Amino acid sequence: MYVVLLGPPGAGKGTQAQRIAAATRLLHISTGDMFRENVKNGTNLGKLAETHMSKGELVPDEVTIRMLLERIGRPDAAAGAMFDGFPRNVVQAAALDAALASRGAKIDRALMIAVRDEELVARLGGRWICRNCGQLYHERNDPPKKPGLCDKCGGELYQRDDDRPAVVAARLEKQKPPAALVEHYRTLGVLKEIDGERSLDAVTADLLEAIR
Ligand code: AP5
Repeated sequence: MYVVLLGPPGAGKGTQAQRIAAATRLLHISTGDMFRENVKNGTNLGKLAETHMSKGELVPDEVTIRMLLERIGRPDAAAGAMFDGFPRNVVQAAALDAALASRGAKIDRALMIAVRDEELVARLGGRWICRNCGQLYHERNDPPKKPGLCDKCGGELYQRDDDRPAVVAARLEKQKPPAALVEHYRTLGVLKEIDGERSLDAVTADLLEAIR
C-alpha cells in the first residue's frame, strides 16, 4: 500500500507518520527528514536544500523528485510506503504516480490533515525533536517526561532553524498544499480529509481507519 500524508507545515504529518509506522510497519519516507540529514552531513544536496529551507521555500522539483525516486527504488519500499511531505505540487504528484505505475502500483490513499493557521503557529513554535532518533514532541501538547531529553532514547532535544517565527510565516504563506494537488487526489478517488485539531490519539485513530 502507498499512502500520501498531506497538510500544511505543522499539521502533524511527521508525528502521525511515526505513530502509523509503529502501528502498521508501513515504511515512513519524509523528504524533509532526508533534506535535514543531507544538511547535517554537509552534502552538496544538503547545501543546496538549506538555501531554500532557510527561507521557507520549497526545494526545486527536479532535485526533490530525483531524491524521492532514488529512495523508492530501494528494496524496502517495494511493498509500500507512507510519504510525509511529498508531493507538494502536481508536478511532484505526477512523477510519483508514473514511478509507481511503472511497477504496477499506485497511491491508494491521500490523507489530508486540516489545521487552522493560528494552531499551526503554536505547534511549530513549541516543537522539539530528538537529535538522536527523530522523535517529535511539543512543549505544551506532548511534552517529554524530562525537559530537553527524549523519552525513547535519552537523546538531546532541539528546535528546527525553520521554526523561527519569520521562517514559519514564509512556510505558511508558500507551502500549504495547493488546491490543484488536493484536486488531483480527489479526482483519483483516494482523498480523505481528517480534522487535525483534535488529540493526537483521535487523529491517529482516524488515519488508521482510513488506511485499514
Ligand atoms: P518538512 O519537514 O516536510 O516540513 P513541513 O511540511 O513544513 O512539515 P513539518 O515537518 O514542519 O510539520 P508536520 O506536519 O510534520 O508536523 P509535526 O508532526 O512535526 O519539510 C521541511 C522543508 O524541506 C520544507 O520547508 C522544504 O523547504 C523542504 N521540502 C520537504 N519536502 C519537500 C518537497 N516535497 N518539495 C520541495 N521541498 C521540500 O507536528 C508539529 C508540532 O505539533 C509537533 O510539536 C507536534 O508534537 C505537535 N502536534 C502534532 N499533532 C498535534 C495534535 N493533534 N495536537 C497537538 N499538537 C500536535
